[in-house]
Amino acid sequence: RVHAIGIDIGGTKIAGAVVDELGQIVRSDRVVTPAGDSTLLEDAVVSMITSLQAGGDVSAVGVAAAGFIDAAQSTVYYAPNINWRNEPFREKLEARVGTTVVVDNDANAAGWAEFRFGAGRMVSDMVMLTIGTGVGGAIVAGDRLFRGGFGAGAELGHVRVVPDGLACGCGQRGCIEQYGSGRALLRMSNEIADAGGIGQALARVRAEQGALDGGLVAALIESEDPGALAALRQLGHWLGQAAASLSAVLDPQRFVFGGGVAAAGELLLAPIREAFLEHLPARGYHPEPDFVIAELVNDAGVVGAADLARVWVAEHS
Ligand code: BGC
Ligand code: NA
Ligand code: ZN
Repeated sequence: RVHAIGIDIGGTKIAGAVVDELGQIVRSDRVVTPAGDSTLLEDAVVSMITSLQAGGDVSAVGVAAAGFIDAAQSTVYYAPNINWRNEPFREKLEARVGTTVVVDNDANAAGWAEFRFGAGRMVSDMVMLTIGTGVGGAIVAGDRLFRGGFGAGAELGHVRVVPDGLACGCGQRGCIEQYGSGRALLRMSNEIADAGGIGQALARVRAEQGALDGGLVAALIESEDPGALAALRQLGHWLGQAAASLSAVLDPQRFVFGGGVAAAGELLLAPIREAFLEHLPARGYHPEPDFVIAELVNDAGVVGAADLARVWVAEHS
């Protein structure tokens, strides 16, 4: 069978879908991510797989998770923003669902989906950054997804941009995740609100609602509030600087930005391009990549996870 199931475990919701070999979603489902206990999370994933399976045969299940994954695509070594340490997720799920399960990094899955079916279709080398709670990374080099020697490569959110900077969930300091994520955007928005001046609207909304959150900041960005736009520009500058360094290593033809914050579109891309050019080594003497927003947006995780599971089965049978 050519259908596969993709499951995308996010901080707020778990999305699942049956996906065909052209990346089209046949059936889908979503539930709120259960808080706390990781057995509740496992139960939720199992019941979603079971109900998606009921509609017909599937060849494999791909599960996208926000963490460092091993080369066997089985174990979550470490998840900076979830309580997983050496979690043998594949084994646990396979024992309960009776189908081949493949575990992959969430950003790898999203990047693969964009490469196969979305914004990366036309290039051989692309880098994707997902801008959500954390910062995820995917590298496609020479038409192949790069995983590194032990499986946990392309953790681009943990590239250091500030020596001895802010503490990160990975145990280090100064990672791009602390300067380029949705959480960082919220921190910057609060700082701008505290400073008064262009932060007045942010401060007012914060006072009215008790606290700022991603949705409130997104709404202010959409209404082109100067304070919210300044926060987004700061975020973009950090991401653009990081992209310049990544470019020196990977020389991609295209950078793709996904995740919730990428809904800001050109307002996010403009400061990224500006900072990128400002920091690009040997600027002006070699071809430059372009910067685009992801096309599959909310579906990238499930579509990519399903396709990577299909690839895994093809390579192991
Ligand atoms: C994790 C990555 C993940 C990213 C986006 C980071 O904190 O280390 O594995 O891809 O967040 O969810
Ligand atoms: Na990754
Ligand atoms: Zn980190």
